[in-house]
Amino acid sequence: MRNFLTTGDFSHEELEALIASALRFKNGSDGTKSLAGRSIALVFFNPSLRTRASMQVGIYELGGNAVVLEPGGTSWTLEHRDGVVMDGDKTEHVAEFVRVLARYCAAIGVRTFAALRNWEEERTDPVLSAFAKYSTAPIINLESAMHHPCQALADMMTIREKLGPGRKRVLLTWAWHPKPLPMAVPNSFALATAQMGHDLVIAHPRGYELDDELMKEIGRQAAGAGGNVAVVNDLDEAFAGADVVYAKSWGAKQFYGAPEKEMAERAQYRENWIVDEHKMARTNSGIFMHCLPVRRNVIVTDGVIDSQRSVVIDEAENRLHVQKAVLTSLVGN
Ligand code: CP
Repeated sequence: MRNFLTTGDFSHEELEALIASALRFKNGSDGTKSLAGRSIALVFFNPSLRTRASMQVGIYELGGNAVVLEPGGTSWTLEHRDGVVMDGDKTEHVAEFVRVLARYCAAIGVRTFAALRNWEEERTDPVLSAFAKYSTAPIINLESAMHHPCQALADMMTIREKLGPGRKRVLLTWAWHPKPLPMAVPNSFALATAQMGHDLVIAHPRGYELDDELMKEIGRQAAGAGGNVAVVNDLDEAFAGADVVYAKSWGAKQFYGAPEKEMAERAQYRENWIVDEHKMARTNSGIFMHCLPVRRNVIVTDGVIDSQRSVVIDEAENRLHVQKAVLTSLVGN
């Protein structure tokens, strides 16, 4: 049994195989009903449009049945910590929840965002880890505190589709946003980009560094795949010659638990840290990517997201195809 928790658990060749499979689903040459007669649980602690809809549609198209659960809403509130006295507001422990679901379902997808309260704790992905610990069925990460591998795989597929094979200059740029956001998307995008052997440039203001251990893994993966990694704080340098511009905002780990301090700190970046036509003009006719949802004229101007260089809708569509590839690979008949 294998989980899909982070692309880092998969080799370059395995990621290439998943992208090839996703492309076959997209072009219609693979119509397998790999989930015929089987059910997949989708557990959402947080809101979603793309992940939820694309998983439900993908499972249906593979002949399976999606069981969607929202702890605290359509199912009981969940405790994930071991050894706690459950005399608070949590009704059920993950230990029972997951093992029961695994008796019904061939795999369990779970979305559990970072709360942005305690960096040292959240960087360990405690809820996702509890699911993986207790499950006897594969766990699919639908975005955790630290990773969003389905998004990253769709992103790599989109770059391949739009720009073809080979090494590209890929910019991941921080963007201003009115409140701090989790780091899962930038973490997974940076990691997968490195695994694919692209030249990765990460641009952010000082103080917004990604996790140290993750950056070491990104460096190792890039070296192994023949690419390289640069971190810059200068926007002009960042955009120059980029084939891909990937925008995402994230909260600084130093301000986890102190959102007011973070808001005061980031205010200075509002004017400059936006993807606009002026910056895109410095690229190598680069494509614009974002995982969505996106705040227009905050993260990116209307002029960029509505331009021919924007691939955000194709990128969202590709979630469907890569997830069908992942489901078929993990649990397909
Ligand atoms: N990109 C993404 O995961 O979108 P949702 O939050 O709408 O699922």
